[in-house]
Amino acid sequence: MFNAPFVLLFALLLTLPLLFIFAPRILPPRRVTISLPDELDDLALFRRAVLSTVRPPGSVSRLGSTNAKPKIAFLFLTNTDLHFAPLWEKFFNSPKSNQRKLYNIYIHADPDSDVKSPGGVFENRFIPAKKTQRSSPTLISAARRLLATAILDDSLNAYFALVSQHCIPLHSFRYVYKTLFRPPTESTRFMNRLSFIEVLSEEPQLWDRYIARGKNAMLPEVPFDKFRIGSQFYILTRAHSLMVIKDRKLWRKFRLPCLNVDSCYPEEHYFPTLLSMKDPNGLSEYTLTRVNWTGSVDGHPHTYNPADVSPELIRTLRVSNSTFSYLFARKFSPDCLQPLMGIADKV
Ligand SMILES: *[C@@H]1O[C@H](CO)[C@@H](O)[C@H](O)[C@H]1NC(C)=O
Ligand SMILES: *[C@@H]1O[C@H](CO)[C@@H](O)[C@H](O)[C@H]1NC(C)=O
Repeated sequence: MFNAPFVLLFALLLTLPLLFIFAPRILPPRRVTISLPDELDDLALFRRAVLSTVRPPGSVSRLGSTNAKPKIAFLFLTNTDLHFAPLWEKFFNSPKSNQRKLYNIYIHADPDSDVKSPGGVFENRFIPAKKTQRSSPTLISAARRLLATAILDDSLNAYFALVSQHCIPLHSFRYVYKTLFRPPTESTRFMNRLSFIEVLSEEPQLWDRYIARGKNAMLPEVPFDKFRIGSQFYILTRAHSLMVIKDRKLWRKFRLPCLNVDSCYPEEHYFPTLLSMKDPNGLSEYTLTRVNWTGSVDGHPHTYNPADVSPELIRTLRVSNSTFSYLFARKFSPDCLQPLMGIADKV
């Protein structure tokens, strides 16, 4: 009654929808690529931000004309709810910070992850965001979007601190502000302010990271001896933030997809490589965000649990080898919120 080819065709047609249902579970997740419209949209934002800083001749800058104090822009890059919002709320609501509102907050939340606004100081601080994914250049794009938005939004934003939902403050706002805007001493009077970004060149994994897009893929823009690695989280000056959003040349290389996904962390390379090529003397070369790489798993650093949280831990995490105390730390599991709130006023 049925001929064989017909049965075969029917069976094939039946399996087709099944393939669509199960393929995403069998195959590795698809890499998010940056579409041309998204790229053009970003370029337009960066151009607006750069143009906003170019003053017509003869005009007076807002910093010069009023006696306004410089501010810190806090850039939250997240793909989950901001677990530590109450802790940050406490940090931002300290008397010193609110007196003259010496900060601004900007949040880039992955649009697919349905992040809820924690309200308070975070209310209405979400910026137009695009999809992000680990091991892809989308994290660079998201950070650049935050920098550009903060530059455009307030000409008083002078430092730009990138943090994640797993970061916590280790000090009061007053302490952070004083550290970044400390008055110049006799020896530093003629120096520009530094950006606090880690820049390392001797790490063992550097070569694998360099060739992750193919052996000569980064040439000629980025020779291996200029390739750097550093923490994804940093505090940049306004001048360096502008350098980052003006860049087209290195971005063309760093946006290429990796062939070796195991060695693909573009966001740990783009910023330190670009800035150390453009202004090596303007960088601290270390980060002020403490992270514990001892016993790291799958590229994730040690995550502190509620049982670890104590005033002693916070004091230990502040201690650094540089002249500055660490200002922020990561990573903390979301359930650390309660014990952290419990000790916040004390430490
Ligand atoms: C870093 O993490 C390890 C476990 O991976 C832990 O034993 C150590 O105490 C941590 N160091 C600090 C300073 O918290
Ligand atoms: C400080 O430097 C020493 C020696 O290089 C190192 O063992 C230690 O982990 C460093 N401490 C911090 C907080 O980075």
